[in-house]
Amino acid sequence: MGLAQADSAFDVFRLDNELARLIREKIAADGPQPFAWFMEQALYHPEHGYYSSDRAAIGRRGDYFTNVSVGPLFGHLLALQFAEIWQRMGKPENFLIVEQGAHHGHFARDVFESLRRELSNFYDAARYVIVEPFEKLQERQSKTLDEFRDRVQWRKSLDHLESFAGIHFSNELLDAMPVNLRDKQVGLQGERFVFVDSPADASPNRSQLNWIEKVAAKLNRGFVLAIDYGFAGADFRETVQVRGRHRLLDSPFEEIGNVDITAHVNWSDIASAALANDLRLAGFTDQHHFLTGILSVFPETITDDKSRRALQTLLHPEMLGRSFQVLAFAKDTDISTPLSGFKFARDARTELGI
Ligand SMILES: C[S@@+](CC[C@H](N)C(=O)[O-])C[C@H]1O[C@@H](n2cnc3c(N)ncnc32)[C@H](O)[C@@H]1O
Repeated sequence: MGLAQADSAFDVFRLDNELARLIREKIAADGPQPFAWFMEQALYHPEHGYYSSDRAAIGRRGDYFTNVSVGPLFGHLLALQFAEIWQRMGKPENFLIVEQGAHHGHFARDVFESLRRELSNFYDAARYVIVEPFEKLQERQSKTLDEFRDRVQWRKSLDHLESFAGIHFSNELLDAMPVNLRDKQVGLQGERFVFVDSPADASPNRSQLNWIEKVAAKLNRGFVLAIDYGFAGADFRETVQVRGRHRLLDSPFEEIGNVDITAHVNWSDIASAALANDLRLAGFTDQHHFLTGILSVFPETITDDKSRRALQTLLHPEMLGRSFQVLAFAKDTDISTPLSGFKFARDARTELGI
């Protein structure tokens, strides 16, 4: 049930309460719990989680915007970047685009529509796999992608994915992965959730590091492109945000299961883990420079007012242009010339401080 489609405010309250009750029970029985466990319950509890229950609403009438919800232009620009990668790899016949965190499948649809319209050779070669653990989201994706159904498959997790040549793509996947906080756990004061002190966690972003290790193991040739918001090097600050109905809430303990919880990504940690797992750094820059690079090679992309407005939202430094970054890795592929998206990027190692 989507938040917007809930029968009444009472339904939302009841769902919220049920999840909060389960979390409270666990803490009362076993003591304070790591924040990653709490975040996992709030977002991915099999029945009541914000994402797993398909309550997450992205877009104008939902809880927050993403690049994808701005409109089809984002998928179109990425399709151009994917096509360049395919060419660079020698136009292989079995080219897989793996997307993780596909939500309702809109990005995949935007990519397919662009390829069908403008890049028919690549369209014929490209197959898509969505890594999706949740049945309700897979159903949504399957409806959105009905027209392209013979080109799309699903896997429950990266463990179920075959070794592949192509691209692993994600937009706002990493910020949705459960993380621990350096010196805080979730405890109870009476009925209320509170933060309690705990020993510093040596690896707060274990879920993200496991993720890049697995992606590196599955990719035999090609690129990994991750788009998200975060910090690099010494700029990193632990930042947890709670988003609902286009506002930031003060605490993750408000409206548990009805709102999104995200953590800013530590790009340098992810890059170091990737390099330790046989991936090569292929670029790091902000979204503004990334999309400007692609557009400089394909300037004819912006043809009408609607795309011009979307572009403004994606590029503007006070909108999505500067808050989002793009990190790319390559395996067994020539990166002596940067991809178009990294044409205007500074040196990635220096930026990441690694
Ligand atoms: C912030 S949303 C982004 C959705 C979409 N990419 C967009 O940009 O509009 C994060 C998505 O990542 C999904 N997700 C989180 N962990 C995942 C995992 N391990 N595998 C696949 N999807 C995951 C969530 O279910 C959710 O749909």
